[in-house]
Amino acid sequence: MTDNAFLEARGIGKQFGGVTALADVDMDIRRGEVLALLGDNGAGKSTFVKVLAGAHRPSAGTIAIEGRPVSLASPQDAAAAGIATIYQELALSENLSVAENVYLGREDVRRILGIPFLKRAEMRRRVGVLLDELDAHIPNPDMPVGGLSGGQRQAVAICRALNLDARLVIMDEPTAALAVAETRKVLALVRRLAERGCAVVLISHNIADVFEVADRMVVFRRGRKIAERRRADTDPEEIVSFITGAHPSLRSLEHLG
Ligand SMILES: Nc1ncnc2c1ncn2[C@@H]1O[C@H](COP(=O)(O)OP(=O)(O)O)[C@@H](O)[C@H]1O
Ligand SMILES: [Mg+2]
Repeated sequence: MTDNAFLEARGIGKQFGGVTALADVDMDIRRGEVLALLGDNGAGKSTFVKVLAGAHRPSAGTIAIEGRPVSLASPQDAAAAGIATIYQELALSENLSVAENVYLGREDVRRILGIPFLKRAEMRRRVGVLLDELDAHIPNPDMPVGGLSGGQRQAVAICRALNLDARLVIMDEPTAALAVAETRKVLALVRRLAERGCAVVLISHNIADVFEVADRMVVFRRGRKIAERRRADTDPEEIVSFITGAHPSLRSLEHLG
């Protein structure tokens, strides 16, 4: 275990009926690091992160967080372990403000004569600080989410994760629907999350994005982890050849199906 290890997955497998979605996946996820998961459609990326998110029970394997074995049997278990997942469909409430969305489900409540009041000013202040820290380009926490751009919405989802004390933030294709300028901002947010000491797992099809932001890359193919590279030790050509199956090291595996 390295010093900054946050999560260690070993031998993770997942069957859906007769379909092997994951087989024997080992993965180390580290604090302060952006880890990119790559692979063709159906390679197993989403299934793997759903195991970490407590949305799928693995058919095989073990997971440890900070050296202790954990059971991530539900999304609540994953949240309690400090794991936040931001799916493509962001699950924000259009008609609520930025601050309300960040606090959705954990509103700070103060009681006066037994009657609950939300600490609105305190919530707004805290959200304003988070937005500033992330340089999120959202001028006012009172803005309704309905009026925000795609990149700003990602920023709200990230603030929400941080407000829930997430220590591992998983993002599944966060920039897939964004224009170039917005993509830049979201990638900068991803970097700042890691700089804050979060572990970040990023699923992306965009090789340029991955090379801009990831410290390490893992390629999945047919449910298996077939390659792992530090960014400094690889290049886009090599990563693409792993994704497509053209890399010479894969030839002996391909005929096995
Ligand atoms: N809920 C499910 N039920 C049955 N098969 C599934 C389910 N989710 C994923 N799969 C299958 O598992 C494999 C991996 O899928 P997935 O993890 O979504 O890949 P990726 O995210 O890399 O595109 C695919 O063959 C897919 O059809
Ligand atoms: Mg997927």
